[in-house]
Amino acid sequence: MELLRLGFLSSHGGSNVQAIVDACKLGHLKAELCVVISNNSESKVIERARQAGIPHYHLSEKTHPISGHLDKAIKDTLEKHETNLVILAGYMKLLGPQTLTRFRGRILNIHPALLPKFGGKGMYGKSVHEAVLKAGEQVTGVTIHMVDEEYDHGSTISQCKVPVLDNDTVDSLMERVLEKEHEFYVQTLQRISEGVIKLP
Ligand code: GRF
Repeated sequence: MELLRLGFLSSHGGSNVQAIVDACKLGHLKAELCVVISNNSESKVIERARQAGIPHYHLSEKTHPISGHLDKAIKDTLEKHETNLVILAGYMKLLGPQTLTRFRGRILNIHPALLPKFGGKGMYGKSVHEAVLKAGEQVTGVTIHMVDEEYDHGSTISQCKVPVLDNDTVDSLMERVLEKEHEFYVQTLQRISEGVIKLP
């Protein structure tokens, strides 16, 4: 694949965005950091983008209340900054048809479990890890997958495992998986940029 030009969508903390930004700044990942979009004007990820000097935008139903306008604004903003790979990291919304069509096969998401288990609507944040513990799983993990019209649904690009420990709580498991996510998103992008992982 040509030089990665990353456009991020994130709703809250943006620790995965930060991990990717740091990897680029340290020279561990060869990619351009083009733009950060958040549906939440107060989100930490907007502050992270500001600190890193990356163009950032608040685009939401508040800024674009008319149906279809938000989808177009997201697509246009990604295009304006010449994004060629869209990185979802803790983005709590579904993308609209214009963005999905324009960037089809070039949108990735990270999920804190081994999909297809523990995914879908409502499976985010603590609920994922709660469900993993409740099911008595001994192994959980991280999935990076293509994005389509449904939550956590597109084809899997890469997965890695994280053990569930006997004394794990929701918080301890979430923390350990999130740490792994940071490392694994960067690694997966490195593999994409080197052509080791080929996007469909
Ligand atoms: C991560 O667990 C990610 O897998 C999920 O949302 C969380 C986002 O964390 N989609 P952050 O915003 O990157 O800190």
